[in-house]
Amino acid sequence: MATDLRTRMGHVELPNPVLTASGCAGSGRELAHYFDVAKIGAVVTKSVMLAPRAGRPTPRMAETPSGMLNSIGLQGPGIDAFLQRDLPWLLSRGARAVVSIAGGTVGEYAELAARLSDASGVTAVEVNISCPNVEDRGQVFACDPDASAEVIEAVRGRLRYDVPVFAKLSPDVTDIVTIARACVTAGADGLSMINTLLGLTIDTITMQPVLAGVTGGLSGPAIRPVAVRCVWQVREALPDVPIIGMGGIRSGRDALEFILAGAAMVSIGTTIFHDPSACVRILRELEEEMASRGVERLADIIGLAHEPHPAPGRRLSGSSL
Ligand SMILES: Cc1cc2nc3c(=O)[nH]c(=O)nc-3n(C[C@H](O)[C@H](O)[C@H](O)COP(=O)(O)O)c2cc1C
Repeated sequence: MATDLRTRMGHVELPNPVLTASGCAGSGRELAHYFDVAKIGAVVTKSVMLAPRAGRPTPRMAETPSGMLNSIGLQGPGIDAFLQRDLPWLLSRGARAVVSIAGGTVGEYAELAARLSDASGVTAVEVNISCPNVEDRGQVFACDPDASAEVIEAVRGRLRYDVPVFAKLSPDVTDIVTIARACVTAGADGLSMINTLLGLTIDTITMQPVLAGVTGGLSGPAIRPVAVRCVWQVREALPDVPIIGMGGIRSGRDALEFILAGAAMVSIGTTIFHDPSACVRILRELEEEMASRGVERLADIIGLAHEPHPAPGRRLSGSSL
């Protein structure tokens, strides 16, 4: 029997749980050279802002052991170009579009939500709250429960009621559950985690920071255990809230780890830079991992690692779990 990979993004059903991670696949166009973008659960776009932006100065990428440090910033053509060009292209390919939005003020997020409300074909909105709040000394929204809640409430209030809102959380906090709870109370239908961790690397020859922006976001395999821990903690506290898990996923087995921790969906980021068809490969591998353990339905194993003794008939048969 074929494995049932369907999953739920709030009230929206997706055919499978594998998504792109925001910022790692543009608006999906680049990936279409490698696979049919309608085959994956959804394409999560690079975070869109109100106005076009150039991003931060170069160099803005550095390799690190088992990860990547980037300070690209929120570079992009802005919401007008996105709505005119990118969204229609995704829809013409039959892809499900999760639109990531970012802003520097609560008002900007609200305005972006209003603009997306008028557009058709938006499967969900992912709110990137790992941005500096220009009205509060550059304090990152996602590091404060009240600021996070204010953004989510503003987005929820302006977006069409039938478009799910996912808040994307930062791991750079003392207690991620407090932020998760604040977002859900403010109206988030689900949570995405994690965004990159703040890092810094110094060139010992020039004796200067490698990145022009000094600090950057760490992604890739190095952050996976941090991400799995965040998913686990939030699932434990808020078991009914759908989670998109991400951070260093390179294989179907990595994806399975996030699902067992409580993610209903997974996003693939840094891996795409090495392997542009990673999403479809990981989808195939996930299906194989499930089949080899006798698991027929994805829904049966979301958060399964929280159950100390799987119920009879749900015991996983794989040897390596
Ligand atoms: C080059 C690059 C650009 C990114 N841009 C965004 C972005 O625009 N919005 C966002 O929410 N996350 C962005 N991220 C974070 C990823 O979506 C993801 O949360 C993070 O990289 C962890 O997943 P990974 O280890 O699979 O890359 C970016 C990551 C990278 C590496």
